[in-house]
Amino acid sequence: MALQIDWKNLGFKYMQTDSYVRIDYTKGKWGQIQVCTDIMMQLHVAATCLHYGQACFEGMKAFSQADGSVAVFRPDENAYRMNATAQRLMMVAPPADLFNEAVRQVVKENREWVPPYGTGASLYLRPLLIGSSPHVGIHPSEDFIFLLLCMPVGPYYKDGFFPVRALVQERYDRAAPHGVGNVKAAGNYASAMQGDFTGKDEGFPISLYLDSASHKYVDEFGTSNFFAITKDNRYVTPASTSILPSITNKSLQVVAADMGMIVECRPVLFDEITTFAEIGACGTAAVITPVYSITRGDKVYTFGNESQAGEVLTKLFKTFQGIQYGEMEDRHNWCHKIL
Ligand SMILES: Cc1ncc(COP(=O)(O)O)c(C=O)c1O
Repeated sequence: MALQIDWKNLGFKYMQTDSYVRIDYTKGKWGQIQVCTDIMMQLHVAATCLHYGQACFEGMKAFSQADGSVAVFRPDENAYRMNATAQRLMMVAPPADLFNEAVRQVVKENREWVPPYGTGASLYLRPLLIGSSPHVGIHPSEDFIFLLLCMPVGPYYKDGFFPVRALVQERYDRAAPHGVGNVKAAGNYASAMQGDFTGKDEGFPISLYLDSASHKYVDEFGTSNFFAITKDNRYVTPASTSILPSITNKSLQVVAADMGMIVECRPVLFDEITTFAEIGACGTAAVITPVYSITRGDKVYTFGNESQAGEVLTKLFKTFQGIQYGEMEDRHNWCHKIL
């Protein structure tokens, strides 16, 4: 029976699909890919993921293409980043080949859940890696469990591609200079929740974090990178050791360069924001969220029009989505057709 899903009105939230995949790492090697349907799993009560935060994840998407196939956007980048995170947290992540095979398998098993072309929705993939060995004295896990969940999602923000208001967080820092802000450790999200959610309570859908050492430089938003378009049409994004290397940002920089823009990845002083014409938050979930205003203390800086995204952000967004849905030329081979 065909699924009864209102594809055009999906939110960005957990939904149970037919199955997920699991791979166990034990005795120093990865086992077979298992397709699982039971959403409850057994875990040792002393597992290092529960006590010491040996847990990390990734976020990526599969898209129904204009030609009827299904493609995943830059899965090698996620495999690479999960390996970088794992190394930092003394964990072991699946090598890229195994990671990619798990991606192909989970999408194949859940083919019906891939939103149809033209709905604006996609299949979100959530790779998760946890340390599963029991330890009460601090020690890296010897065994790991890799899970890969998938679910159909609509746009991250229910209003879609509309400008939002951002708040600079002064009370809570996101990441220490030589900490783990540059990897996708699960604990990063727990520590950012209080800032992000107090900001939301105050009417700001996203919070902007500055470098925690001096609060002079822009780092990133709670769950997305910061980029700006200068008044003379350059793409500027912060270089910092405490931000997550966003795959969307990396790709947007290429799209911007392809469009003839100068791209600058360098430390960005907060005081420079008055020189920016447009500001965007970018990430897998929303691609680009235009930022209309940034509030810091009693100062409010505005960019463009409150009810409409700026011209350059709109062009970048449309080009990016056009590539993801197979409507525009994929010059850099980012879309991996898997079905
Ligand atoms: C802290 C943070 N920064 C940036 C991003 C955007 O990264 P990507 O474009 O790879 O999704 C995310 C989302 O994954 C994130 O959680």
